[in-house]
Amino acid sequence: MADAQDVDLRAAINAISDVIQNRPRPLREFDQIYMKAGDMVMQSELIARWADGKRMAFIGDGDAISISIAFLQERGILKYGPTKITVFDFDERICNAVRRFADKERLHNLDAELYNCLEPFPQVGRFDFFYTNPPWGASNRGESVKVFVGRGMEAVGFAGEGVVVIADDEELAWPKLVLGEVQKYALANGFFVQKMMSQLHEYHLDDAPDLKSCNLMFKAISPERIVRDSVATPKDVLEHFYGRDSAPKVRYVREKKRVDYGKANEDEYLFEKIGGT
Ligand SMILES: C[S@@+](CC[C@H](N)C(=O)[O-])C[C@H]1O[C@@H](n2cnc3c(N)ncnc32)[C@H](O)[C@@H]1O
Repeated sequence: MADAQDVDLRAAINAISDVIQNRPRPLREFDQIYMKAGDMVMQSELIARWADGKRMAFIGDGDAISISIAFLQERGILKYGPTKITVFDFDERICNAVRRFADKERLHNLDAELYNCLEPFPQVGRFDFFYTNPPWGASNRGESVKVFVGRGMEAVGFAGEGVVVIADDEELAWPKLVLGEVQKYALANGFFVQKMMSQLHEYHLDDAPDLKSCNLMFKAISPERIVRDSVATPKDVLEHFYGRDSAPKVRYVREKKRVDYGKANEDEYLFEKIGGT
């Protein structure tokens, strides 16, 4: 199989640039904090190689790694990748951005479904691999991470593999605590940590521009698929879900009107004419 060195970097960066133009503006209150462009290229290549030939579920994907992978495949920039990608996100703007891009570029293996991860998962056991970049759990000892990872595990029927993208920092205490808690959670649910790729990604994060994330990769201990009823997330883990005292109050983010994300909105500027008025 081809590897990362064979990728046409200019073509890949230009393709990712199109994907970035299509991303809705991030809502900070729900931890939408987007990955930077160079890291998106590297991450998409890495995840496409890892998930080659698999059916993938993304539990939330504001970063648009799902679109990037499908687009790089369709353009022939990557010769490998998943056969099917479904994005589950509670933000209709993100789901619609996925659908519009897939429609425009004829990405037949990419789709999105509006879904709040606090509710039972709608497609238990229908995927092989999962990917999630959740709220990083600084104020809740990783409980928010476990909710997203748990939905990913349901998506793959507690078999197959998954990756969670979470904070990884030498100086701070909370990312280490969260990493430990998430690894314990994985083991308790039949997965072991296959690999940890440290401090890989940077974000558009004003108050912590140096905070990086890692890929923590899991593999199921048993190949046996378990399809059991999915249940809603218990209320007691939600108190600090999106940060201190920031429990979820929103079921879905709805799209009010279609925005062309690559262009300035009319309410952002006005024209002062030559010669006045
Ligand atoms: C929490 S953000 C994490 C940061 C990541 N870099 C990003 O911006 O995509 C990841 C995704 O989870 C989605 N999300 C947040 N809360 C959710 C929920 N309760 N159910 C489903 N998706 C959710 C966001 O819309 C976003 O697309």
